[in-house]
Amino acid sequence: MRVFYWQVERMRFAESIDEEKFVIATYYLETPMELEKAAEALAAEQSTGTWVRVAFESDELIAKYSARVLEVERLGESNGINRGRLRLAFPHGNFGACLPMLLTTTAGNLFEMGEFRNIKLLDLEFPESYLKSFKGPKFGIRGCMKALGIRDRPMIGTIIKPCVGLPPKKFAEACYLAAKGGVDFIKDDELIANPAYSPIEERVSATMEMLDRADEEKGEKTMYAVNITDEVDRMMDNADAALENGANCLMVNFITAGFSALRMVCEDPSVNVPVHCHRDMFAAFTRSEVHGISTVVVSKLARLAGGDQVHVGAILGKLYESVEQVVENAEVLKARMGSLRRALPVSSGGQHPGKIPANIRYLGKEVLILAGGGIHAHPAGPEAGARAMRQATEAVLAGVPLEEYAKEHEELRQAIEKWGVYER
Ligand code: 6PG
Repeated sequence: MRVFYWQVERMRFAESIDEEKFVIATYYLETPMELEKAAEALAAEQSTGTWVRVAFESDELIAKYSARVLEVERLGESNGINRGRLRLAFPHGNFGACLPMLLTTTAGNLFEMGEFRNIKLLDLEFPESYLKSFKGPKFGIRGCMKALGIRDRPMIGTIIKPCVGLPPKKFAEACYLAAKGGVDFIKDDELIANPAYSPIEERVSATMEMLDRADEEKGEKTMYAVNITDEVDRMMDNADAALENGANCLMVNFITAGFSALRMVCEDPSVNVPVHCHRDMFAAFTRSEVHGISTVVVSKLARLAGGDQVHVGAILGKLYESVEQVVENAEVLKARMGSLRRALPVSSGGQHPGKIPANIRYLGKEVLILAGGGIHAHPAGPEAGARAMRQATEAVLAGVPLEEYAKEHEELRQAIEKWGVYER
């Protein structure tokens, strides 16, 4: 026999709650159940209960540990499926300041429930009492900009391309050219971490040597984010190897490695450089509008874990998120969140000089704009590509149209000729 509905015997609707004791989760839900019943079932299933009230689930236990339903908003119905938005409050004493258990509670088994045909965790809100247990970014926007001496302009960066396959010396040469051309920031692609053909020690020592040279020549500083993603028990060894060889930024693929792995790196006292957070694989659970977890939640958790720079998508780039979604992801990193520092939004994926005006219009100056192909495929090479990115930035900040500025700036002219200017 199939159990269709939870046999909910105790209303878990809250009249009022002490907000400091709860984390609030907002969900979108599609279900054949009545929405109120579904909300109660969700509250029970993810806290004290199960599909049926059990012997030891006393009223006292429920009063103290049960999740509460705060709101049920009906959005519509079609073919027997109700659509709604639910807000539930989870007592954070149940899971503590522990990211895996926070996710198990607010985003765990609920995705498997047969009667929840589609369910998406849209947002998580944290009280000050909860946020206090997290250190958050050590550097944040200000610290990253300050480390490079950047004032009142976006940080411009690149991902070394080809993503994989370059031996350390060749990799360092590509870094030198991009840095000399004017990028402030260089990162490993998410596809390279510590492979046999380019071990971290060799890659970082070769690269930092070349960056020192470039920095001296251009009179500016360059930050290099070394990807230390690995099996968790090896990540701190990679971090040590990178730092010992002069790395001034670390990078973590935090969805594949895990939020907890990211937090471990960010909170380690030996890590005194910013941590760059790459989201690859996130879209497996964010992309559906009706099922999964929103990118807003991903951004919030990366900041909570201590990420200093967090990818937010690409303005008019090659990725799926709309401009509005990218802007929302970026705002989450900058909005007030207890006393946590603001994290730097990273716009990356299909960028080139012609997209700088749109990036600055939508994301402002507190942003890191990355171009891989848009620098390394410049007709005159990576150094010219980097120069063109900086020229486009100068033009926007001076209020001059790119085409106009390009008349006196050859590298920008070539970039525009190849890729055009994107406005929206
Ligand atoms: C990264 C990138 C990566 C992206 C391309 C960007 O930071 O590693 O965001 O995830 O898909 O590598 O490169 P292009 O600028 O060439 O699109």
